Order: sequence, then C-alpha cells, then structure tokens
Amino acid sequence: MQAAIGGESTVGFNAQLTLVPGDLVEVTTYCRKPLAGSPKRVASNTWLGAEAVKYPAFKLIAVLLSETHASHFQPFFRRNAELAAVALRAPNQPDRLVKFNCNAAHRRDVQAFYKLVIIPFSLPAPELLPTPNGEGLFALNCLHYRYVEGRTYSAASLLPEQARRDVIHALGKLHSIAIGNLRRLNSHQPYWAYLQRSIVRQALLSCDIGYIKTLMVMRRCIRKLPMVLSHGDLHTGNVLVDATTGKVTLIDWDRWGELPLGYDEACFLRGIPFRQALAYLPDQHALRLGFTIVSYWLGAVEGNGFRYTEQAKSMMNFLEKHMG
Ligand SMILES: Nc1ncnc2c1ncn2[C@@H]1O[C@H](COP(=O)(O)OP(=O)(O)O)[C@@H](O)[C@H]1O
Ligand SMILES: [Mg+2]
Repeated sequence: MQAAIGGESTVGFNAQLTLVPGDLVEVTTYCRKPLAGSPKRVASNTWLGAEAVKYPAFKLIAVLLSETHASHFQPFFRRNAELAAVALRAPNQPDRLVKFNCNAAHRRDVQAFYKLVIIPFSLPAPELLPTPNGEGLFALNCLHYRYVEGRTYSAASLLPEQARRDVIHALGKLHSIAIGNLRRLNSHQPYWAYLQRSIVRQALLSCDIGYIKTLMVMRRCIRKLPMVLSHGDLHTGNVLVDATTGKVTLIDWDRWGELPLGYDEACFLRGIPFRQALAYLPDQHALRLGFTIVSYWLGAVEGNGFRYTEQAKSMMNFLEKHMG
C-alpha cells in the first residue's frame, strides 16, 4: 500500500484500506524513513492471538511465542519501526513483557538498580522477573518484566491530574536516595550530553552576546546544583496509568543515572505552561532552578525562536529572581 503526500500536506491513499487488529500501518517519507508515530498497530491495546504472528513484521516474535507457549501477544514498536518489546500471555502464568536488545552490561545495570533502589525503596515500577532458562537466543538479549495494565499518554497535559502529582512525588523519593556505591557499566547519558552540546552550539551560532551570556550563566548554575539519582528518560510514554485505579507505574528505567536535580521533572512536565508546571513541584530552591533551566534548554533546542516566546520570558524572570 502506498500513500502520497501532496504539496499542501494532504495524504492520499491509492486504495481503500481494510484493516484488522494486528495489522501495521507504516507511514514513511519517500526514502522509507518512518514518520513520527509510525508504525502504528491497528487496535494497539488489544491482545493478538498467537496465529497473528504470521505477519512478516512479527517474525522475531514467532520463536519466543512457541518457546513460552504463549496464546496471545502484543508487540510494541519504536518510532524507527524497530520492535522494542512484546507482551506475552501464556496459560496459568502472569502476563509478562519481554524487552529486546538488552546486552549484558545493560541488563546488569537494570538488575543492580532494581536490587538497590527500586525494590528496597518501593518505587512504582513493574516487577523485574528472572529470565527463564531455555529461551535460546532470547535468554541472552532480553529483560523480562511483569506486564502492567495501563495506558500511556502522548503529552503531560493529557495525563490525569492525580497521575501528574503521583509521578512528581515518586521522583522526590527517588532523588532523595543516596547513590552510594551504585555505578553504571554503561555510564553514558546520551540525551543529557546532547542537550548540553546543543545549547553551547546554539549560543555560539546566535552571535548574540546577551544570549551567549544567559546560556553560560545557566550552565554555571546547573553545574552547581546537586546531581541526584534520576530516571533519565521520563517522557509521558514511560508512564503507565491504570484506567480503573489511576495507579501510576514508571517503566523503562534503562537510562537511570545521576543527573541534575530537576532534569526528570522538566522532561516529564514538558509542554505544560511553565508557571502551571512549577506549581506541581515542591517548594525547593535547587529543584525549581534545575527544572527551569532544563525546561528552557528543552524549549531552546526545538528552535531558535524559543527565546522570544512568553514561556521563555517567564522562565527567565524566574531565574533572574532566584539564581542569586
Ligand atoms: N511492564 C510493562 N507492562 C506493560 N506494558 C509495558 C511494560 N513495559 C513496557 N511496556 C510497553 O512497551 C513499550 C516499550 O517499552 P519501553 O520499556 O518503554 O521501551 P523503549 O526503551 O523502547 O521505550 C512501552 O511504551 C509500553 O507501552
Ligand atoms: Mg520507553
């Protein structure tokens, strides 16, 4: 099936689509680069019968289904069309979520974090299950979790009010845990490194002395803030909310690490107007400063025009008052 994007951004299909649950809809550029949100699975919250594994895109899952005797499954794709994980339902067993592409160092990092942080401090995360023996290829490269009922949201503004508060509360608990001897084998924080590099680059390219100074002052300030134990990838796609109980579960702890206080909060509340977002945070000076600087940077890397927006001005007013 092919679609054409016209000059006025209209999308037209060359035939009528008859879709059934489990089908995949992939919208790509003419170079076959998937567009944001693609591929999408039709009826993405439904469990598929094991027979649906016949689709070529699910080839990887077929072995796993037969090895675990699963009767149903739900595949999860990344934006680049790569298969990220699969939920499995097998008779007389709790549903599980198998996450792919986890090398040994990565698995050791996640297991250590569960053992020393998530379990002892009862953070709201899905239970990490032992990897069952005898799964051939998959035993080496997967992490198994208990499947948690819930849905994710595409923006923090869409999350139920109580869920937002619960996430901020859980983050407060996480940041107060001493890191002790806990160290990652994979120490890289790719997004944080990217954000810092981009800001320096943007400052220099702007050729605007005032803007360069502002961004450098922020950089100095954030370097003095406490580095705390953080989730490291807390966008709303990593927050599951149970539709009936409203219970919140934070998933995808793969990028846990030490990050500036306020980093997680800024990533999570991204898109909510600054003053409204600030109101969710406890009244802690360092947390609010870190939150504001990271929020500003997240806005700035989206485009050069950000600094002229009302949001940016409101953040700058706050920083001028509180940076001291
Ligand atoms: N324990 C779980 N229970 C239910 N669904 C989950 C669970 N873990 C992950 N998922 C689903 O799988 C998707 C991908 O998992 P995630 O750990 O976020 O991988 P990625 O690193 O690709 O973002 C999530 O967006 C979520 O929909
Ligand atoms: Mg994720």
